[in-house]
Amino acid sequence: MLSVHDVHTYYGDSYILQGVTLELQPGQIVALLGRNGVGKTTLVRSIMGLTPARRGRIVFKHHDITHLPAHRIARMGIGLVPQGRHIFRSLTVKEHLQVTARSRGQWDLAGVVALFPNLQARLRNVAGKLSGGEQQMLAAARALIGNPELLLMDEPTEGLAPLMVRELGRTIASLKAAGTSILLVEQQLAFALRYADIVFIMSKGRIVHQCSPVELASDAQTKTRYLGI
Ligand SMILES: Nc1ncnc2c1ncn2[C@@H]1O[C@H](COP(=O)(O)OP(=O)(O)O)[C@@H](O)[C@H]1O
Ligand SMILES: [Mg+2]
Repeated sequence: MLSVHDVHTYYGDSYILQGVTLELQPGQIVALLGRNGVGKTTLVRSIMGLTPARRGRIVFKHHDITHLPAHRIARMGIGLVPQGRHIFRSLTVKEHLQVTARSRGQWDLAGVVALFPNLQARLRNVAGKLSGGEQQMLAAARALIGNPELLLMDEPTEGLAPLMVRELGRTIASLKAAGTSILLVEQQLAFALRYADIVFIMSKGRIVHQCSPVELASDAQTKTRYLGI
């Protein structure tokens, strides 16, 4: 479904991704872990076409998307829930969902509101008035309504209360059941391990470890070395 091969990405002269390779099979949830500043968001941005790779290849459903602009990549079926949510404070919930809706596919306004019932009563509210948890739901709903086959979620639990984290977990489980593939960037190890099929760990712009969630759970050395746990 997604193949990232030897990707090198820069911000100006800063050399950030130094040869990242990873694979994501259809229907899989892949967790991407690593300390702050190792390049997780940069990888997400390279896949989405926001900070394109300078070298290497990114292939999605057999198409080379390495140098496509972000809007084309979105139309091909990759959705992004960006770190920090990036909602528009002055747009209403409904307006957010209208601007990203894509006609074909299972998710429409009624569908995402059914998945996130809290948003129903908030459709006419401006997003700036929502709680942090509701804003995260909106960010996820906005990505889903584009009917992605692959969802990139960059630290979706950041700043959420435990109750909201559990709710988000249920959402991820139901998306997986519906066949959506997910690249899940996470700081909360337990959350990532609960939902991931496979785990990749980054350090200094490279993938340094790949294993199953069960293996990582019992690998104290790797957790200490790369995650500071
Ligand atoms: N827009 C930018 N310009 C220059 N450097 C950046 C920019 N964004 C991030 N960086 C740097 O790139 C590195 C990786 O950042 P990032 O991908 O956000 O890491 P992570 O998501 O793993 O915390 C960090 O050293 C960060 O300071
Ligand atoms: Mg990040």
